[in-house]
Amino acid sequence: MRKKIAAANWKMNCTLPQAEDLLNKLSTANVHVTEEKISIIAVPYAYLLLAKQILAAKQNIFVAAQNCYTKKSGAYTGEISAEMLQSMQIPYVIIGHSERRDYFNETNSMLADKVNIALEYNIQPIFCCGEALDIREAGTQNSFVEKQLKDSLFHLTNEQIIKVVIAYEPIWAIGTGKTATNEQAQEMHQHIRKVLAGKFGNDIANNISILYGGSVKGANAEEIFAQPDVDGGLVGGASLNAEEFSTIINSL
Ligand code: 13P
Repeated sequence: MRKKIAAANWKMNCTLPQAEDLLNKLSTANVHVTEEKISIIAVPYAYLLLAKQILAAKQNIFVAAQNCYTKKSGAYTGEISAEMLQSMQIPYVIIGHSERRDYFNETNSMLADKVNIALEYNIQPIFCCGEALDIREAGTQNSFVEKQLKDSLFHLTNEQIIKVVIAYEPIWAIGTGKTATNEQAQEMHQHIRKVLAGKFGNDIANNISILYGGSVKGANAEEIFAQPDVDGGLVGGASLNAEEFSTIINSL
């Protein structure tokens, strides 16, 4: 069975004292997580070890990085490698967030390389896809997302794709307070699962977690997560508040 996942993406937020405070609150929060219902906290690189340390006693809450580079090591100032993440025992990494695609020109083929290197170092990618508003308005969102998946994931083997978590994040819903409707989310998630099934088969597609991201809050998490093909969420703004994010975890 695929896992239900409440993932936090802190993005470039929190000073060290703020990060420590938020992690301490999460470590004592009353959240119901199990092997099948997990939480993942993607913090800035600088806080990865701190997060691991503070959350060490919390079973089924994992720490993630928000990105990694395509290369193994070398003269790439300011970048972080999958090998470094593995050496810190970080189990997940977000790959291809729309902010990375937009502001740092990450292309589908570069993201294929990032997925490859993450998997090579046994780190599970949380692969983001999703369309901008003009594509949604033109009604071509299904083929757009399909191409993102094909270009960055279709070269993987069955053993590899099963380790990937997908996050569908429509760009028009990120940080805007404008969530996709339950129907829009379900429709796209079903489409993504169908695309995966076409390439990797039904069994595999049914075992891949597909998260929704874009203005998820405590108040709307439960209804979005109740959609049959929505297996949880990737949460930005609302994950910076421990109480709000706890409500989201408990909505799984
Ligand atoms: P918001 O939850 O702030 O809309 O951000 C979503 C997101 O980009 C998570 O990766």
